[in-house]
Amino acid sequence: MAGETPDILLVGHSKPVIVGGLTPISTLHRLIEAEDKDRFLAGVADRIRALAVAYTANKIDAAFMQRFPRLEIVSSFGVGYDHIDAAWAGRHGIVVTNTPEVLDEEVADTALGLLLCTVRELPRAERHLRAGKWPQGAYPLSKATLRNRRVGLVGMGRIGRAIARRLDAFGVPVVYHTRRANPDVPYRHYPVLLDMARDVDVLLLILPGGAATRNLVDAAVLEALGPDGILINMARGSVVDEQALIAALRSRTIFSAGLDVFADEPHVPPELIAMDHVVLFPHLGSGSAHTRARMDQLVVDNLASWFAGKGPLTPVPE
Ligand code: DGY
Repeated sequence: MAGETPDILLVGHSKPVIVGGLTPISTLHRLIEAEDKDRFLAGVADRIRALAVAYTANKIDAAFMQRFPRLEIVSSFGVGYDHIDAAWAGRHGIVVTNTPEVLDEEVADTALGLLLCTVRELPRAERHLRAGKWPQGAYPLSKATLRNRRVGLVGMGRIGRAIARRLDAFGVPVVYHTRRANPDVPYRHYPVLLDMARDVDVLLLILPGGAATRNLVDAAVLEALGPDGILINMARGSVVDEQALIAALRSRTIFSAGLDVFADEPHVPPELIAMDHVVLFPHLGSGSAHTRARMDQLVVDNLASWFAGKGPLTPVPE
């Protein structure tokens, strides 16, 4: 509608960055997450034309989107969009955008950080120092190493390739599992995850969440990874059967795990917190101020482009 300032609902934004970026193009409403939520939504729902969604924990399902009869676009922060029912949105003419590419290198850096922390047990060394134990004796040596070990990537999108490039530089052999081989990727492809799990020392997950990948890593895959195996999850908690993982870590079916993501974030199972042989990050894959600001900007740019009649900049794939 010409001349109308679009009303945008911010879902889950805690930082002012995006608000500053949006102000010139919108009338803003910030979703109240407390008990006032329904009353607040009833008051604004008829006006809302866009959702700016900040955090993957917000479920943007059909029931939620249906509350906004004028909804045109959902601009989501982050590359993964398994928290949004994009198929339903597409069927109802609602555009969904995400923030790809601007975060690839940052997430790949974090993946390498988590991998090294886990394999070489680096957080344990830091705890040792902080506990004042260094003067009493050397830090106990890590049992695992990256030397002569193979890493199997589950997923080989842009971030997967950025991780593989880093592993190349470390001299670590890489193989990968995806449903279909990518002819442009110079690594051995495994069509069957179980086969790859048997052949590698580290499984590193970097693939989309959602129904198609739910519990892909189950008890059988962990068993195949074996007692020296290490699981690194940079994807989504839903990709791993979390109870099977806890059981495998307890029974030492696998050696250890490094987890950036969990099934029910921000809840982390107490069983994992209690374990010394796991490294746990608070879903910080893209988490530098620099990269988060670029992601915020892309959320804003998608909305600005849409409301200027130029279409979305980075719509999610059909
Ligand atoms: C992403 O971009 O999908 C990250 O996991 C943060 O949500």
